[in-house]
Amino acid sequence: MRNYLLLYINGKKHTIDKTNARKNLSEYLRENLNMKGTKIVCSEGDCGACTVLVYRYATKEKSSFETINSCIAPLYLLDCCHIITIEGIEENEILHPVQEAIAKHHGTQCGFCTPGIVNAMVSMSDSLIKNNEQISEKKIKNFTTGNLCRCTGYKGIINAGLSLDLKEITPLFQRYNTQNIQDDFGITFGQEVEIFDDENDVKIVLPTTIEKVLELKSEGFQLISGGTDIGVLLNKGYLKSNYIAVLTNIKEFYTVEDNENFLSFSPMVTLSDVEKHSTNEFPEFSNNLKVFASPQIKHKGTLIGNIANGSPIGDSIPFLYVSDARLELSSMTNKREVLLSQFYLDYKKFDLKSDEIITKVKIPKSKKSFKLYKVSARKDLDISAVSLAVGYVLEENKIIDISIAYGGVAGTVYKAEKIEKLLCGKEISENLFKQGTLEIPNLIQPFSDHRASKEYRIKLCQNLLMKFYQEISQSIQIKEEL
Ligand SMILES: Cc1cc2nc3c(=O)[nH]c(=O)nc-3n(C[C@H](O)[C@H](O)[C@H](O)COP(=O)(O)OP(=O)(O)OC[C@H]3O[C@@H](n4cnc5c(N)ncnc54)[C@H](O)[C@@H]3O)c2cc1C
Ligand code: FES
Ligand code: FES
Repeated sequence: MRNYLLLYINGKKHTIDKTNARKNLSEYLRENLNMKGTKIVCSEGDCGACTVLVYRYATKEKSSFETINSCIAPLYLLDCCHIITIEGIEENEILHPVQEAIAKHHGTQCGFCTPGIVNAMVSMSDSLIKNNEQISEKKIKNFTTGNLCRCTGYKGIINAGLSLDLKEITPLFQRYNTQNIQDDFGITFGQEVEIFDDENDVKIVLPTTIEKVLELKSEGFQLISGGTDIGVLLNKGYLKSNYIAVLTNIKEFYTVEDNENFLSFSPMVTLSDVEKHSTNEFPEFSNNLKVFASPQIKHKGTLIGNIANGSPIGDSIPFLYVSDARLELSSMTNKREVLLSQFYLDYKKFDLKSDEIITKVKIPKSKKSFKLYKVSARKDLDISAVSLAVGYVLEENKIIDISIAYGGVAGTVYKAEKIEKLLCGKEISENLFKQGTLEIPNLIQPFSDHRASKEYRIKLCQNLLMKFYQEISQSIQIKEEL
């Protein structure tokens, strides 16, 4: 048992006690360590100014450092992690090739975003080296999606990325992953952490077993996995939680199971890992995750966190509806499975007892194909106004099976059963789908908010259904021509 957290920052050991355990990493770096290179702008995970790189011992087999937003990362989420900040990027006072390139190609002006952009680009170059891939403009854009620059313009930044010679770069994992640090994490990781601050009535527990986390849940502790939903609420003071159970140190919670019947993910599997593991079996879902938030958020946020947060605009949920995904729910005395589509009872009301937690999401492998659509004000790093997921089986021109789920139109994701019934068993035709779109205004009464008006949401639902029709009819035509 420990009453402190263990972190390494730029190769140096730090132990954190109750005084600082709840501080965000960005504040700790700037205020306690006087490392001012990490900037804070939005405190919401949106701008990337606070980007740092993290290696997590629990997923040591990844052998890499990944970007996260340090402004929504309380230190208790980073136990047994090694963090590299902008101060740790240069080597022996010689600038990293990424830093050189940014300077040479005028990729910085006021400089406020620059540490975050350099760190995102270091993560890109390390990942390309590891996977034996080449630099491209698309990759630079993908890796820097979570980094906003308000004054330079992105041309200089992209040119800097394109000019990199990967052969000149030594990946951070090679530079920083020493045997001493590994040994230290190896000894420490399996120890449960309990940080009690009686004066402020705060209890933070990092259990190492499922049994212990279930016990904590039954005692009313607030669960936290990646903290990308809760972290924002805590920063903005919308949530006050003094009893916190952190899921990061339960090794089994990083399990991905891929067998002939289903693909399943445990609570600590991050969205970026789900994106990778879904590529073969559910490519449409994997592609859809490419426009989910930013790399920084996906390296920390989890699929089960998205499900448990239960927002009707949560991007993974419509797909999980139409793929007939099931949730495993566990308590100290029971384990049960529910269909995800029956888990959501009303806005943020779930079929989840106060002592239960989600221990798995299982996506069945079936004959269904999928089409997923997300409409948001901008393509990247934005929340959907409306989304549509369709799971379907076709036999030549006939629809044998179809499931349709809309996000963003009601308190929960909406399953359009009436339209499913109308389409199922019929030959595909424009008229048939037009009939379906006519049903939509009778079926949904979306809300108006700053993202979209009610009328616009209805129109989007209709247009997305027609888009689905056009895409499948085109693919049938192509098959017939072959
Ligand atoms: C900048 C930014 C951009 C974002 N963009 C998107 C986006 O494009 N699309 C989108 O859908 N979301 C987006 N989000 C929301 C968020 O990233 C996701 O919902 C993410 O999947 C949450 O996962 P987490 O692990 O961080 O959850 P946490 O914040 O740790 O937890 C979320 C909730 O789940 C509960 N919980 C966690 N694990 C369990 C469990 N095992 N059993 C029961 N309850 C549990 C927690 O108690 C909490 O109530 C964004 C967030 C930010 C900050
Ligand atoms: S300060 Fe904007 S993402 Fe952290
Ligand atoms: S250089 Fe000023 S915000 Fe990017």
